[in-house]
Amino acid sequence: MHKIEFEPAFFNRFLNCGPAVLAVAQHEGSPNIITLAWAAPVSHDPPLVMISVSPRRYSYGLIKAGREVTINVPPWSLLEEVAFCGRVSGRDVDKFAETALTPAPSERVKPPGIEQCLATLECVWENSFGAGDHTAFIMRVVRVVADEEAAMNRFGPGAGKPTTIHHLTGNFFAPLGGPAREAGKPK
Ligand SMILES: Cc1cc2nc3c(=O)[nH]c(=O)nc-3n(C[C@H](O)[C@H](O)[C@H](O)COP(=O)(O)O)c2cc1C
Repeated sequence: MHKIEFEPAFFNRFLNCGPAVLAVAQHEGSPNIITLAWAAPVSHDPPLVMISVSPRRYSYGLIKAGREVTINVPPWSLLEEVAFCGRVSGRDVDKFAETALTPAPSERVKPPGIEQCLATLECVWENSFGAGDHTAFIMRVVRVVADEEAAMNRFGPGAGKPTTIHHLTGNFFAPLGGPAREAGKPK
């Protein structure tokens, strides 16, 4: 290995490994979709997820006011939709109408899930705090609906297995790169 130094802001090239997600927020009007790469689990019990959202996003106001979101995990086949929902704003465009994504009614929260996604986490606001130029919203997961194959048999690639989208910063994305392998079991 030959190591060189990078700007601190380069850090997420290495930590940004979870799946990119499509979050849906809604207040009084129509639901809006936002692409988020910065979504991370932060607690098992209670089940909490952090999503980091810039106050410049239309979704920011919807999350603050509506206090609920669905976090949807898209398969690799939705790559163009993920890029689109991360490039245009719900201030200008109805992203459900402009894409083939279809809303799936939620049970515990107002914003719908997304039918074509592998998993939908229905979440309610728990806490939030400023984090530099973003706000970290800590959301409690109150319901999970997921594709059985993705949930039970792990993700792809290969042989029709679902695989997730991973944002490598900028305009670059990759599917999950290898089959699941178990590690760390006591001998
Ligand atoms: C791959 C990708 C990941 C993104 N991740 C985030 C994120 O974690 N937080 C955020 O605030 N914006 C993120 N964005 C930017 C928003 O998705 C983008 O500004 C979007 O157009 C905002 O939509 P809205 O104005 O309808 O809320 C990301 C964009 C892309 C393409």
